[in-house]
Amino acid sequence: MSKVNKAVILAAGLGTRFLPFTKAVGKEMLPIIDRPTILYHVEECVKSGIKDIIICVKEDKPEIEKFFTRDEEYEKYLTSTGHPEYADVIKYVSTLANIQFVTIDKPLGIGYSLYQCKDLLGDDPFIVILGDDLIINKDGDPVTKQLIDAYDVCHSPLIGVQTVAPERTKKYGIIKPGKVDGRLIEVKGMIEKPKDNPPSLYACLGRYLLEKDIFTAIEHTAPGAGNEIQLTDALTKLDTLYAYDFIGNRYDIGDKEEFIKATIDIALSREDVGEATKEYIESIK
Ligand code: G1P
Repeated sequence: MSKVNKAVILAAGLGTRFLPFTKAVGKEMLPIIDRPTILYHVEECVKSGIKDIIICVKEDKPEIEKFFTRDEEYEKYLTSTGHPEYADVIKYVSTLANIQFVTIDKPLGIGYSLYQCKDLLGDDPFIVILGDDLIINKDGDPVTKQLIDAYDVCHSPLIGVQTVAPERTKKYGIIKPGKVDGRLIEVKGMIEKPKDNPPSLYACLGRYLLEKDIFTAIEHTAPGAGNEIQLTDALTKLDTLYAYDFIGNRYDIGDKEEFIKATIDIALSREDVGEATKEYIESIK
C-alpha cells in the first residue's frame, strides 16, 4: 500500500493571462459556477485519500487562505438568519482537509515554489498539483488517485500526461517516451516547452507524484525557460521517472477559452443548473 499522504498545490503564479481579474485575486480563485477552482483540487486530494495539504500562495493574495479558514461567527450568523444550508457549506470547505499555507516571496517558477515546501513534506512520496490545471474525471477515480495506484505498480516518481495536438506541444513539458505498458510510460527525457521537434505528443498536465530526491535535483537545477527554476529540468535529473496517461478532462483555467469550457461542462453536469444551462445553449444555437 502506498504511503502517499500529502499533497502540495502550487497556487502562487502571476496569472498574467487572466488580467485584469488576477490583479487583485489569484486565478485559482476563479469560480466554476459558485466554487473556486482550488476547491476542486482540494476535493481531488481528499477523494484520493489525502487530507494533509500544503498550498503555496502569493503573499499579496491572501484570499485562498481566507477561503479555507473556518469562520464560526459567520456560520452562526447564516444559521440565525435562516440559512443553515450555507452555514453547512462554508463549514464543509474549512473542515475538508488539514491545510497549511506557504507564502512564496518571488515568482521564480514551480521548482522554486515546491522547494519552499521541503521541510513540511518529510520522507514519504507526495503529490504535486499545479493550481491552474483543473482535471475532472466525472465517473471514475480522480487523477491523483490514478497516480497513486500507478505508483504502487512502478514505485517510481510519476507525472500525469495526456497527448495534445502537435501545435500545442510548445505550451507544455513534453516527455520522450521509452517502453509503454498500458497507460504507464517509461520517461527517457523531457523538454520544457519545445519550440520545434517535440520528442512526443505526451504533455505534462499539472500532476506529479514525487519522492524527496526531487529536492536534491532542484538544488542542482539552474534557471531554465523564462529564467525560472523549472520542475521539468529537475525531473530529468531523477534516476527513474514514469508517466501515466491519466483518464479525465483537463482544463487550463488560466486560459480564457478553456475556463469557459470548464464552466459549461461543469454547469451541464450539475443538478441545480444543468437543465437550465442546456436549454439556454440550445436556445442560442
Ligand atoms: C507548467 C509546467 C509544464 C506543464 C504545464 C501544465 O507550465 O512547467 O511543464 O506542461 O505547467 O499546465 P506553465 O503552464 O506554468 O507555464
